[in-house]
Amino acid sequence: MNRTLLIIKPDATKRNLAGAILKQIIDEGFTIVGMKMLWLNKEQGGEFYKIHKGKDFYDWLVNFISSGPIVVCCLKSPNAPKKLREVVGATDPKKAAQGTVRNLYGTSVGENVVHAAAPDEDPQREISFFFTEKELFEY
Ligand code: CMP
Repeated sequence: MNRTLLIIKPDATKRNLAGAILKQIIDEGFTIVGMKMLWLNKEQGGEFYKIHKGKDFYDWLVNFISSGPIVVCCLKSPNAPKKLREVVGATDPKKAAQGTVRNLYGTSVGENVVHAAAPDEDPQREISFFFTEKELFEY
């Protein structure tokens, strides 16, 4: 068992999709270890996505992620980071496999409804960005 981070992005919360997306992910075998709804400011959004600084879509991305409320979840399952990436599908909804979250709900490469921590980019950094250890519950 290990942990990963999911963000349900502003395009999804605005369309009231948070429940449907969470149900789909939980049905795939994930347990919620921590969850909160919040609205990032641009500074926080820029810090979270700093790995993309310098890319042509960075300013757009920072504006987008701070354009409305998000739901952040720390999730647990066997092989969680890799498995969550499979369940959400490719970044571009047009390329995402049939039935994945982004295939079902994403509308563009930017407005792709969810973020899932990259397995090779330290999911714990992303978990710690949003949660203290006291806000995570395993029993
Ligand atoms: P995410 O998995 O959160 O990681 C970085 C985000 O940047 C990505 O999902 C998209 O929301 C966004 N993104 C990636 N590529 C592009 C692109 N070519 N144009 C606009 N946004 C992008």
